[in-house]
Amino acid sequence: MTYLIVALDVDTRESAMFMVRKIEACPCFKVGLQLFTRCGPDIVDVIRAAGKQVFLDLKFHDIPNTVAQAARAAADLGVDFITLHAAGGRKMIAAAREAVERTKTRLLAVTVLTSLDDAAVRSEIGLNESAEDAAARYASMAVEAGAHGIVCSPKEISRIRQAVGEDALIVVPGVRPIWAAQDDQARTLTPREAAVAGADYVVVGRPILRHKDPALAARQVVEDLMG
Ligand code: C5P
Repeated sequence: MTYLIVALDVDTRESAMFMVRKIEACPCFKVGLQLFTRCGPDIVDVIRAAGKQVFLDLKFHDIPNTVAQAARAAADLGVDFITLHAAGGRKMIAAAREAVERTKTRLLAVTVLTSLDDAAVRSEIGLNESAEDAAARYASMAVEAGAHGIVCSPKEISRIRQAVGEDALIVVPGVRPIWAAQDDQARTLTPREAAVAGADYVVVGRPILRHKDPALAARQVVEDLMG
């Protein structure tokens, strides 16, 4: 089964909650840096109070103790997923895992940002490999260190699945229904293609948020996921 997560990339609590109430077909909403920085942790409470799961996408990346404390704080908020950068290393990921043990919060590791191309990975980040090779290597290290899953580009799903095995979760943004514009996403798959490739969750923002009928758009994505 592949589930839909709607990315609430909006500025206010009112617009976020308007979407949460309207989009009944979606069980889980992503709160990212924009909405969290605008509204604070209260936004998590109100989404949960509406009966929905929360994916808190703040991409933690710091020393192990700091990330562990932040992960614990997120688990105390009752969120279902948090993200952290695999580049923070094994100790950071293991500390975060320990902090969320015995809670329902699951850790998703971000590998190489899809905004970085091969040239930037080599010359700016200083890795002697392609972005895809680095992503696969980070993914397998992160899951070994304790991450429950990986966030990756839809085109990388099969490579990442090989690297992390069957039990790890794979969550993919960059998904576009055939009826939607590509926006700034360069390498997209449709929800169905991502499901067939083995994604556990797809994250969709603008095609749903900017649709004239967001509830209908979300239902269409869910139908496409189910095939
Ligand atoms: O509007 P759209 O469907 O492109 O939104 C995708 C969501 O996934 C956004 O919240 C974006 O920040 C996030 N994301 C992404 N590409 C990545 C990682 C995260 O688009 N590589």
